[in-house]
Amino acid sequence: MKTGKKNTPEVIVIFGGTGDLAKRKLIPAFYNLYLEGFMPEDFAIIGLGRSEFNDEQYRKRLEEGVAEFSRTGKPDAEKWKKFKESIVYCQSNINEEASYDKIAGVIKGFDTKFGTRSNRLFYLSVAPQFIEKATLSLHKHDLTSDVQADRIVVEKPFGHDKASAIELNNVLTRTFDERQIYRIDHYLGKETVQNILAFRFANALFEPLWNRNYIDSVQITVAEQVGVEDRGDYYEGAGALRDMIQNHLLQIMCMIAMEAPVSFDAEEIRNRKVDVLRAVRRLKPEDVHQNAIRGQYGAGWMQGKKVPGYREEDKVSKTSNTETFAAIKFYIDNWRWQDVPFYVRTGKRMQEKTSSITIQFRPVPHSTFPRTKTDNLMPNRLTINIQPQMDIRLRFMTKRPGLEMDLNQADMIFDYDTCSTQTPEAYETLLLDAMRGDATLFMRSDQVEEAWDVITPILDAWTSRDSIDFPNYAAGTWGPEGAEALIARQGHVWALNSHSIDNK
Ligand code: BG6
Repeated sequence: MKTGKKNTPEVIVIFGGTGDLAKRKLIPAFYNLYLEGFMPEDFAIIGLGRSEFNDEQYRKRLEEGVAEFSRTGKPDAEKWKKFKESIVYCQSNINEEASYDKIAGVIKGFDTKFGTRSNRLFYLSVAPQFIEKATLSLHKHDLTSDVQADRIVVEKPFGHDKASAIELNNVLTRTFDERQIYRIDHYLGKETVQNILAFRFANALFEPLWNRNYIDSVQITVAEQVGVEDRGDYYEGAGALRDMIQNHLLQIMCMIAMEAPVSFDAEEIRNRKVDVLRAVRRLKPEDVHQNAIRGQYGAGWMQGKKVPGYREEDKVSKTSNTETFAAIKFYIDNWRWQDVPFYVRTGKRMQEKTSSITIQFRPVPHSTFPRTKTDNLMPNRLTINIQPQMDIRLRFMTKRPGLEMDLNQADMIFDYDTCSTQTPEAYETLLLDAMRGDATLFMRSDQVEEAWDVITPILDAWTSRDSIDFPNYAAGTWGPEGAEALIARQGHVWALNSHSIDNK
């Protein structure tokens, strides 16, 4: 998908240019794209912020960010020197009209320098309340009128609930065409997540089995070891359901459950994904407690160190009702998936950092082997490890070498570590796609709104009734007991928990 350089010059404008995202993710990603020859011949990165910096001070700050956070480490002095010439800082205030005159001046200065009107990429790495002002002002200054060449990238959160997401989409589409809007879900840029499409639709082997006739259940886990870090104020208003399930986990679920697209076209792929969200069974209010489990971490031990509970974290209420863990059982009401449970869960301060998808196949219909030989007999299982371990494993049964007919499990493994090329960061993929105008891996407005619709009954139930048992799991564990019970009801166990006994 990504070959060679393109020649149209690109001007990238980062609102929130002095923020954490620019330093940790955006600039390291642009720098790596530059190193690998994916940036156009002529490009400029304009960082915006209220603080006072001259260009050199700003570049220094970004260089430190690259050294600390880029997968390629400390930048090579010569290469950075060349790259940084393309970066400028423009002190500005997102709320002041005069700042947009200044920004327009800088952009047009680059157009003159490059001898043509550049493509424009506006990156909004700012809180949602600033989006309306920024988009209206950019429009007023006629900076975004070319539907083919001007794009806007928006970071989550895309709203706080369905109504606010619709409102945000209305704000964006007042001044931008939907084709210009790139809503980032960084999980979709992860190499292992993109590979789900290749795995499913570039092989004839799995697709015939990829349905309710052969698949017993699906699990998606995104477990983090970190706590809420310094984002207590944001997280208090979000919680695991809004922060992770509404976007990352539901998007992964779509990749697993979608029908085969006819072509690798952005609209076609996004249509197939939104079909899944439409088919997800909406929970009735009275069924929420049976199908959705929430948790909040208390103090505990992580890698030999005592860590505080969520309510003791900075900028968090001592009586907080915010969930830091959520486990939900979804059903997808269509021909392919009727009655197959999709278990999704995510949590902070979990025992391990791991994101993975488990496709549990049904057991063989009849066991040919004597009971004494089938102690180890397990149904097939496909595991897609997203991070930090990156691999795909297919578990199958074999005969244990020896004179007896004893059965044993074996794994067929594709391990990313064996690939010679370094895996790009999600932001590298996504920024390159945005510059090229490929929206396949970005969220369309209808996807965002459907995803909110899916979780609305759970949100409503959890906000209307405080949890009585928070905190209900200790840091460093796999979450509350309720999550085990949720899945045990149908005879399942979480595939990843080291303490689980695999009974399927
Ligand atoms: C973000 C969430 O979207 O994803 C964070 O806001 C979370 O709370 C992060 O920690 C996880 O991303 P990754 O790529 O580290 O798994």
